[in-house]
Amino acid sequence: MKYFDSVGSTNSEAKNFFIQGETEGLIVVAKKQTAGCGRKGRSWLSPVGGLYFSIILNPRLSTEAAPLLGLLSGCAVFQSLLSLGVKNVSLKWPNDVMVGEKKIAGILCEVVTMEDESTGIIVGIGVNQNCPIVRMPAGLQWPTTSVVDEIGKETSLESLLCSITNEIDRLLQTVEAKSSFAGVLNEWRKLSSTIGAWVRIHEEGKIIVGLAKDIDTDGALLVETDEGLRTVIEGDVSYLRTLE
Ligand code: BTN
Repeated sequence: MKYFDSVGSTNSEAKNFFIQGETEGLIVVAKKQTAGCGRKGRSWLSPVGGLYFSIILNPRLSTEAAPLLGLLSGCAVFQSLLSLGVKNVSLKWPNDVMVGEKKIAGILCEVVTMEDESTGIIVGIGVNQNCPIVRMPAGLQWPTTSVVDEIGKETSLESLLCSITNEIDRLLQTVEAKSSFAGVLNEWRKLSSTIGAWVRIHEEGKIIVGLAKDIDTDGALLVETDEGLRTVIEGDVSYLRTLE
């Protein structure tokens, strides 16, 4: 494990370590990030108090599994937050961990390709843990909460890190034992607030509106729209209220 008081982004550090020859299982942790990255080139505010780490998963699995590893990591974060006593946690496709309608954690999976074409997957996880939202720097892009706001006390960053990484390891072992992500996908379906919800998805300039029916074996979201069933690979989901 590599620990830093401050880095730009633990994902970028993990990528550099991978390029230098580090392999599966290396964890890069930072007390704070000065250029934390979110999905779609967004920034991830990372003051002291949050948990920020990245794992190299130099895949025994192919890089096509990157979206599935995002879903797997979401299940791991869910279980770990539940163990801390956070209530009302759910997973929002693709990789958001929510408490009600507020985001508490995010996951960024990135594929690194070397000159010799060998590839690795970096999974980066950020949890708003001990930094109350009122003390977050300006710039939050959506409703957000933190573990300390939810349970009313600070918790150990080290314990949450161990809990999430152990859970990721346990889930990866089930994937390997069965040579399939089917069990993880079923777990994700159970923990998700997206399946069965009316959604609006922004996908590269297009807007898709419909009923989120399921995820497929690649982790893509299947949405029933007026034009038929759509397979959505990337996008930001908003939930629509049903008319009653
Ligand atoms: C998102 O929800 O958009 C993904 C956020 C991922 C943030 C984590 S914090 C640790 C790791 N390092 C980064 O720069 N990003 C991820």
